[in-house]
Amino acid sequence: MAVLYGVGVGPGDKELITVKGVKIIQKCDVIVAPTATEGGESIAFETSKEYVREDAEVAIMHFPMGGKDRLKKSKEAYEFIEKRLAEGKNVAFLTIGDPYVYSTYIHMLSHVKEHGFEVNTIPGITSFCAAASLVDRTLVIGDEKLVVMPATKVNEITDEKFIVVMKMYKREEEVLDVLEEKGFSYTYVSRVGREGETVLTDREEILKLRDYMSLIIASRD
Ligand SMILES: C[S@@+](CC[C@H](N)C(=O)[O-])C[C@H]1O[C@@H](n2cnc3c(N)ncnc32)[C@H](O)[C@@H]1O
Repeated sequence: MAVLYGVGVGPGDKELITVKGVKIIQKCDVIVAPTATEGGESIAFETSKEYVREDAEVAIMHFPMGGKDRLKKSKEAYEFIEKRLAEGKNVAFLTIGDPYVYSTYIHMLSHVKEHGFEVNTIPGITSFCAAASLVDRTLVIGDEKLVVMPATKVNEITDEKFIVVMKMYKREEEVLDVLEEKGFSYTYVSRVGREGETVLTDREEILKLRDYMSLIIASRD
C-alpha cells in the first residue's frame, strides 16, 4: 500500500534536513510542496530539491494563509494526493520546519485520515529551535514552561518567562510593545538558515525589516 509521508525539511538550510527525511524524499514518486503565494516559490521544495528523484512528479501547491479558500485548497491538495496514492505511488508532502508546528500539512491530513490511507510523519527541525542555536539563546530551562504563540496571541501572556512568537508579519509593532511593557528581552530572527538570514535586537531595525519569515525569542527574569 502506498504511503503519504509528511516530511519536515527544517528551517531552510539544506544541511538541516534529517537523514530520514532525505531518504524518504529520495524514495517518493510524487513530491507535494506548499507555497504561500499563487505561482510563488516553495521554500520547502527549494530546501530539499537536490534530494528529489529526477523522475518524480513535483506539484507546488498554493495554500492561502487563511480565509475561506484555505479549506478548499487543502481539499484540492488532498484529492491530488489521494489519486496518486490510489495508483500505488508514495507521496511526500514537504513542510518547512516541523510538520506539526503551524503547518498546512495539518489541515490537509484531516482529509487523508478520513479515507484510511497510511500516513507517516517525519519530524523536522523547527524554525525556532534553529533560531535559538543561531543566536545562542536559551529557549527554556529548569522547571519553566516554554510558550510558543502566534503574534495574534501576545496579549494573552501572563506569567510566562520564556516565549517564542511566530507569524510576526504585520504585527511587529504590537508584539514589541507588549514584550517591552512586560519586561522581556528579545531577539528577532528572520530567514534562519536561508539567504538573507538576519538577527536583530533593535526595535527600529525590526520595524524597518518586517519579514514574513521571522520570529522572536524572548525571556524575562
Ligand atoms: C506556517 S509557520 C511554519 C512553521 C514551521 N512548521 C516550523 O516548524 O517552524 C510559518 C512561520 O514560521 C516561522 N518561520 C518559518 N521558517 C522560518 C525561518 N527560516 N526563519 C524565521 N522564522 C521562520 C515564521 O514565524 C513564520 O511566520
